Amino acid sequence: MKTKLIAPSLLSADFGNLQRDIEMLNRSHADWIHVDVMDGRYVPNISFGFPIMKTVQKHTQKFVDVHLMIVEPEKYVEEFIDQGADLVSVHYEACTHLHRTIELIQNRGAKAGVVLNPASPVLLLEDIIEQVDLVLLMSVNPGFGGQKFIENTYKKIAETKDLILSNNSTALIEVDGGVNLENAAKLFAAGADVLVAGNAVFSSEVPEKTIELLKI
Ligand code: DX5
Ligand code: ZN
Repeated sequence: MKTKLIAPSLLSADFGNLQRDIEMLNRSHADWIHVDVMDGRYVPNISFGFPIMKTVQKHTQKFVDVHLMIVEPEKYVEEFIDQGADLVSVHYEACTHLHRTIELIQNRGAKAGVVLNPASPVLLLEDIIEQVDLVLLMSVNPGFGGQKFIENTYKKIAETKDLILSNNSTALIEVDGGVNLENAAKLFAAGADVLVAGNAVFSSEVPEKTIELLKI
């Protein structure tokens, strides 16, 4: 997979005009579409689930990046893949049997990512880094769009990069939360491969232009 990718988060889209917003992303330089699923239990917010996946699958050919912020994600990963997810990321903190869940995702034919919350150290991934296709570093506490970026993420990107290199892993590094035009270039330079952006894209005057600028 190529790097320096932008994954706009649908969480900040206009759900009254979801098809329009997805079509805008189709025309744009967005590489992936980031789908934030929240259950009101793992995180203190409820977003959406399968009906929105259906709309996403119907209207885009882009790579669909599903971020599960739910308890017991192993119960649902296969259905998300059947509904069009190309990559499914599960939280380290939400998985009792992470290795098994990663295998479940990959055996169903999708890429598998593991997510770390801001307070979870990178070294937790030492024994799973060889298996995963992606590490998603949360740069805000999960649950809401439009929060302030946590600066400690830069250190975690460097640590993740080291872990990947020392294990000959091919995992990509994705950063999620508070990404904007001020920090995007710095995050790519620090070693991020994929940046999620919700608020920065959808609250901007010309979202397509913003997506382009996030890559510079
Ligand atoms: C937060 C989500 C993020 C969020 C990012 O729980 O995982 O993907 O939508 O939104 P911004 O870019 O607005 O911080
Ligand atoms: Zn997300």
